[in-house]
Amino acid sequence: MTDYQFDFDAEIDRREVPALKVHPMVLGPDGDDLFAAGVADMDFRAPPPVLAAMERRLRHGIFGYEAVADGLFPALAEWFARRHGWSLDTAHILRAPNVLNSLAIAASLFTREGEGIIVQPPVFFDFFDIIRENRRKAVVNPLLLGPDGRYEMDFDGLERLAADPRNRMLFLCNPHNPVGRVWERDELSRLGEICRRHGVLVVADEIHADITFAGHSFTAFASLGEADALNSISCLSPAKSFNIASCCSSFTIIADEGRRAAFQAENSRLTVNKNNAFANAAMEAAYRDGGPWLDAAVEYIADNLKLVRDRLKGRDDVKLIEPEGTFLLWLDFRGLGLDDEGLRSFLRTKAKWAVTRGAAFGENGAGFARVNIACTRARLSAALDRLVAALSG
Ligand SMILES: Cc1ncc(COP(=O)(O)O)c(C=O)c1O
Repeated sequence: MTDYQFDFDAEIDRREVPALKVHPMVLGPDGDDLFAAGVADMDFRAPPPVLAAMERRLRHGIFGYEAVADGLFPALAEWFARRHGWSLDTAHILRAPNVLNSLAIAASLFTREGEGIIVQPPVFFDFFDIIRENRRKAVVNPLLLGPDGRYEMDFDGLERLAADPRNRMLFLCNPHNPVGRVWERDELSRLGEICRRHGVLVVADEIHADITFAGHSFTAFASLGEADALNSISCLSPAKSFNIASCCSSFTIIADEGRRAAFQAENSRLTVNKNNAFANAAMEAAYRDGGPWLDAAVEYIADNLKLVRDRLKGRDDVKLIEPEGTFLLWLDFRGLGLDDEGLRSFLRTKAKWAVTRGAAFGENGAGFARVNIACTRARLSAALDRLVAALSG
């Protein structure tokens, strides 16, 4: 068996496969020399136990139809119990192809056309696309940025929007892409109470659950208590935690029996419930044995964060919004006084950064950019040198 090490400094050419992060589709035709930090995956090889499990599965050589492996749901449940103190019932787990698919199905099943889904921007841009493509209405409750550089939920705004009977669902991003908040128990409880009182169903996208920094711990929304569990749908996935987005599937956890049956029927109608042999092998190995790798990866990312913090300290033209989790940084470039196109062009042509423009995350994201720091230290350091030079030039 190959002896894989944890080597987060290894430069691996992602162009050997059609990786989106470095693909012309994302970088443009002339983007080869850019710091590719837009797409939300890591430049690190997956955990050794995952690679070994996939090799074993490959050697078996037969890839006919498969059921869910007996050990998969218990592995997921044990992971969330051990890491996050959430004892989820394996009977509540449904397989899904990916998290966004679960969001789309939830929207189409449990809201009607034209109804509102509450989102809290700046937030993952695909939320808006899913809502629009399902002919629902994105109703925004913008996060509030305090003078301390910390984003908070606007509970008064939420109360008002939730009280409107046309708004039937809320997409929660926990931890929050792109601002890096790891929502605290009391914040989630407050949100949960408002939503229950007004009959707004919470769809919790918890794909970033496992990547949190010292002093912050993830609380699964459905772990708050039975009432919130029954008024929510949790979307979980090993994609971000173990860098296996292209070879895994995801999980929808639904405690309410009626909604679970409806979801299952919809999965069946759409025939999205087939199993992928490599995904099964990768996911079970990740949840059983990927912990040490994940801890080391988070430590490496935290050191990358420290590098950014040190390099940008004291600057007025760019400020780091201190993240509590995720490998995505939210940088405030409003001090440059550029409009959206001006900032995009500055970052691309002067700093040679291919990042995600803040305005894509909602109106209050204008003037910001989202940067993925799950890359080698050397690459990040060179990119920071270029940014600082561009800012000074
Ligand atoms: C908050 C959030 N949800 C969902 C996704 C995508 O998940 P999936 O690939 O499982 O659809 C991402 C990827 O960046 C994300 O950041």
